[in-house]
Amino acid sequence: MEPRDTATRYDQIARWWQSQHQNSSYGIAQLKRAIQFTAQRYLALDVGCGSSGRFINVLLQHGFEAEGLDISREMIQLAKEQHPGTTFYTEDICCWIPPKSYSLISAWDSTFHLPLNQQEPVTKKLCNALEPGGVLIFTCGGGSINGEISGSFQGQDFDYSTLGVDAFLQILTEQHCTCRHLEYDQYPENHVYIIAQKCDRSTSTTPN
Ligand SMILES: C[S@@+](CC[C@H](N)C(=O)[O-])C[C@H]1O[C@@H](n2cnc3c(N)ncnc32)[C@H](O)[C@@H]1O
Repeated sequence: MEPRDTATRYDQIARWWQSQHQNSSYGIAQLKRAIQFTAQRYLALDVGCGSSGRFINVLLQHGFEAEGLDISREMIQLAKEQHPGTTFYTEDICCWIPPKSYSLISAWDSTFHLPLNQQEPVTKKLCNALEPGGVLIFTCGGGSINGEISGSFQGQDFDYSTLGVDAFLQILTEQHCTCRHLEYDQYPENHVYIIAQKCDRSTSTTPN
């Protein structure tokens, strides 16, 4: 499914998403775990932020200046009502060129909707948008190999894709990011979240 079609479907359920998730703790402990790894707390970006503003709330509470990005116009419209002072981008993460560097980037249950051929370039893009020592947290399908599945949610059909855990870890390594945490947090569901940290040149050691 193309990202534009994913957006149309999320537009239909944006208000439902907001009412269901505004006070949801889903993913919040995991986000707080990622925040613990951050060396500095300047700018943070929530990719596929949805309409509830829940990740933005936590980021603001922890001292970040937070931004949100989502491809769904309806999601962003509702998110802006929650956080009128926050910068939001109505963009497809596949096409968006990050204009800034971030201390933390979250992509909770969003990039798993990308077409399979976009998983690698988008993962690289997010790694490259981190400042030195910056932290990325994202969810993915936890298989060993790449794959695509479809499913129905709130009456809408959605597609999901994954490169497989090993391939994601390889990309992170190639982009000078170290995996700090990987967990099948809904086992036996095939849902994984990964926390990775960009090499901080100021603290990395060089062999003699
Ligand atoms: C399952 S919801 C998760 C929302 C939010 N992260 C949360 O946990 O409450 C997935 C979100 O990802 C967004 N999304 C999906 N594909 C996207 C893309 N290509 N670019 C930006 N956002 C995307 C959807 O519009 C939707 O708001």
